[in-house]
Amino acid sequence: MQVPDKHSSHIVVLDADRAILAYIRDVLADRFSVSLFTDAAELCRSLSESPAPDLLLMDWQIGEDEGEKNALSLLAKVRASKPSLPIIMLACSAELKEVVAATRMGAADIILKPFRKSDLDLAVQQCLEALGKRPAADEATEIPLDGNTSFVRSCERMREIESQCKLVAGTDIPVLVLGESGTGKEVAARLIHKMSSRSQRAFLKVNCVAMPADLLESELFGYEQGAFTGAVKPKPGKFEVCNNGTIFLDEIGEMPPALQAKLLQVLQDGSFSRLGSRSSVRVDVRVIAATNIDIKEAIANKTFREDLYYRLNGFTVKMPPLRERPEEIPVLAQHFMRKAAARYDCDPLPISPALTHALTGHAWPGNLRELENTIKRYLVLANEQAIVDELSALRSATLPAPNVEAAGGNANLKHFVRTVTGNVESAAIAQSLEGRGWNRKATASDLQISYKSLLYKIKRYNLSPPEKQHSFDQA
Ligand SMILES: Nc1ncnc2c1ncn2[C@@H]1O[C@H](COP(=O)(O)OP(=O)(O)OP(=O)(O)O)[C@@H](O)[C@H]1O
Ligand SMILES: [Mg+2]
Repeated sequence: MQVPDKHSSHIVVLDADRAILAYIRDVLADRFSVSLFTDAAELCRSLSESPAPDLLLMDWQIGEDEGEKNALSLLAKVRASKPSLPIIMLACSAELKEVVAATRMGAADIILKPFRKSDLDLAVQQCLEALGKRPAADEATEIPLDGNTSFVRSCERMREIESQCKLVAGTDIPVLVLGESGTGKEVAARLIHKMSSRSQRAFLKVNCVAMPADLLESELFGYEQGAFTGAVKPKPGKFEVCNNGTIFLDEIGEMPPALQAKLLQVLQDGSFSRLGSRSSVRVDVRVIAATNIDIKEAIANKTFREDLYYRLNGFTVKMPPLRERPEEIPVLAQHFMRKAAARYDCDPLPISPALTHALTGHAWPGNLRELENTIKRYLVLANEQAIVDELSALRSATLPAPNVEAAGGNANLKHFVRTVTGNVESAAIAQSLEGRGWNRKATASDLQISYKSLLYKIKRYNLSPPEKQHSFDQA
């Protein structure tokens, strides 16, 4: 089944169901050249004999008897003959193992059947834009999210994170976003929501550490009249309010154990009961959770339920710290400058090569949040030199001479870099703590990281206040 080649982008579609092929052709043929195949062998022959198309849409269930195995071996064949061909999978349901397998084989997206014209249009458009066929105005580095927030990415690693978010957005699998403080975990959660079919519904964030257990329970699950003193009328919780939307459970590692059990039940069958009620409520809510604590350690310490971890960990997105993607610093600095200028209603200041150099030389223990605050400070002070001096003072005060011995005498570069970076960070933190007489709140504020993150780092680097001096020392 061939449609004459009359447009610039060529899309090939493989599906055993002719009705689906006809539908896809009706949606796409007025803007693209479309070739349709019902048979995998015929598709492979055509791919090996002709130049690569721009995009392949392929049914996951092709050759139903063998199911996934068949789709995977076909994907491998296609990859062998056309290594960089973007592929979108069409699937009836996307189980985690399918998403993982498809990602491994480099699928760019999954569209769930039955799909609407708009789902197909969006996936095709995003895929072709990524190819550089039709870049939208800001597409090169920035995806606008809600309000003033955007997802900026300009390096390969962050584009991979974007692809993972896009893939998992097409499913309802719970997602666990991990990463140090300020690396963009919330931004990633908003991106997943925005790219999902729930994007027109609510995205609600609940901070699990900001309130006591009782309050958190009523916040999440609601209560009936008389459930406790002061419950004068019934109130639905966030899970009910957020029905058909996405709930973002921030700092999940700090959730009290009693609530972890209740959350586990919601993840298992979407049901729970309000406080003071015996009947259960059923909801359809997509859960995204985030934490910056070492969750495996929390499981070992029995502060986090292992079964809940496995439920939440349907798909993990790991946000890299800024020091591992320094090439993004100039683009992010420009973005934060535009964002701050819009917020304070003033003109953005230029970011000179000298400032860029100072910014890229800093280790950013507070990650993107710290960079954003530095840019805000620059805009307010309007004194570039002050910022450059501040950053270079921090650098010279904290940068130890690289020493392979100190890094364990290990020639493995990754290990060496990790050790040296850790040394720099721990030296910077120790110095700030000492400068502040071990006042942790003040130090966290100086370093522009959260209090909790500072406590975590103190523990991680095994830092402790100097022993109190004995009286005879003072003589
Ligand atoms: N990729 C990104 N593009 C643009 N801005 C970003 C990006 N990632 C993070 N930011 C900005 O950096 C700041 C910190 O991001 P975010 O709140 O998502 O981090 P976090 O990992 O949730 O931090 P914490 O662990 O402290 O809660 C926010 O102002 C956010 O808008
Ligand atoms: Mg956060």
